[in-house]
Amino acid sequence: MIRNDNEKLNIDKIRNDFPIFKTTGRAYLDSAATSQKPECVIKAEESFYKESNANTLRGFYPLSVKATEIYEDARKTVASFIGTDKSEEIIFTRNATESLNLIAYSYGMTNINEGDEIVVSIAEHHSNILPWQMIAQSKGAVLKYLECKQDGSFSDEDIEKAISEKTKLVAFTHVSNVLGRINPIEKVISLVHKAGAVAVIDASQSIQHTKIDVKKTNVDFLVFSGHKMLGPMGIGVLYGKKEILDKMPPFLTGGEMIESVRRDSATYAKLPHKFEAGTVNAAGAAGLAAAIGYLEETGLDKIHARDRELTQRAIEGLKKIKHVHVLGSDDYREHNGIISFTVDDVHPHDVSEVLSADGIDVRAGHHCAQPLLEHLKVRNATRASIMFYNTEDEIDRFVSSVANVRVRMGFAD
Ligand code: ALA
Repeated sequence: MIRNDNEKLNIDKIRNDFPIFKTTGRAYLDSAATSQKPECVIKAEESFYKESNANTLRGFYPLSVKATEIYEDARKTVASFIGTDKSEEIIFTRNATESLNLIAYSYGMTNINEGDEIVVSIAEHHSNILPWQMIAQSKGAVLKYLECKQDGSFSDEDIEKAISEKTKLVAFTHVSNVLGRINPIEKVISLVHKAGAVAVIDASQSIQHTKIDVKKTNVDFLVFSGHKMLGPMGIGVLYGKKEILDKMPPFLTGGEMIESVRRDSATYAKLPHKFEAGTVNAAGAAGLAAAIGYLEETGLDKIHARDRELTQRAIEGLKKIKHVHVLGSDDYREHNGIISFTVDDVHPHDVSEVLSADGIDVRAGHHCAQPLLEHLKVRNATRASIMFYNTEDEIDRFVSSVANVRVRMGFAD
C-alpha cells in the first residue's frame, strides 16, 4: 500500500514529546529492555502524587475516592485497549513476570497434576519458562518444549504434534525478545482449546508495536509490562477470562483482597481485587493509562509502519557488513524492531562497549533466553531494539559503529 506523507508520523513532534531525548544525544536502541517515556506519562504519575495521592479503595474522604477513580479508570483504559468490556478481567501486577508467576501459582498449582503436560516454546524469555519448570517439578507434570527452526519460525506440523490431550497449558510468546518474530498465536490458541487446555500469551514485546484483541484471539491469559510500552516501571497487566479467574485462588494474600477475615478463615473479594493484595501502584496505573492514550493518539498502525521502516534500514545495513550475522529470519518484516546479531570473534560485551563509546545503547548477553540461544547454537548476542521514536540518523550511526567493531578490536577487517 502506498502511504502519503500525511499518514506518516511527525518525528520532530514525537522526539519533542520525550524529555530524555532533550538531555542526551545518545542513540537509545534498547527499547525491548525498557521504552522511554513521553512527558504525558511522567506528568500523569507526578500529578497523581501532587494532586490525588491517597490509598485507593480504603477511604470515604474525597482524596481517596479520587485516587480510586483514577486507578479504576486506568483499568478501564487497559481493558478497552485490548478489547474487553469487562474491566474486572484486568489485574494490575508489577510486570509481566509477576503476571506469569500469578498464573503459575494460582492456576497452575490447582489445575495441573501428575503426568499432565505443560508446553512452552523454546523462544520464551526465562520469565515464561521458570514458573512452568517450578510447577512441573512440584506437581510431577511434564514440561515440553516446542522447538523453532533456525529462522525462529514454528511449523504448523510441530505445533500440532506438541499439543495433545495430555496438554493442560501452553505458554507462548507473541514476539520473541531475541528474534522479534511474530508467532502464530491464533493457530496455537485454537489448537490449545481443541485439546481442552488454556493458552498463556506473553505480549511484552508485541503490545507496543501491534494491536491485540483478546476477544478476537480468544486467549485465556495475556500478560505484559507497562514499562516496555511507554508506561512507568512497576506496573504490569494480567488479562484473564473472567470465568477462569473467578475459579482461581488468590496468589498473594493481604489487605483489600478480602470480603471478611475470621481467626481461622477468610472469604475473598471479587475480581479484580482478589488478586491485588496490599497497597497498589495507583500512580503507575495512571501513567500506564497515559501511555495507552499516547499510543492510541499516535496510532498503532503508524507505529507499526515506522518500526518496520527503521528495522528494514538497520537490517539492510547490517547485512552488508562482513562478519556480522543477524539471528533469526533474513526478512526484516520478521523482526518487529528487534535485531540480535553476532560479530565473528568479538564477544557481545565488547561489541556493546564499542557501540557505547560511539553513543549507542544496546543490550548484550543471553537476553534472559538461554534455552533459545542454546537451541540456535549461539552463546550470546548483541541486541538493538527499535521504537517509532528512533531516527534514521540513529540507525545509520548504529550500522556504521557495528561496521567498525572488528577493526576497533584489532582485526584487519
Ligand atoms: N525482558 C527485557 C529484555 O528482553 C528486560 O531485555
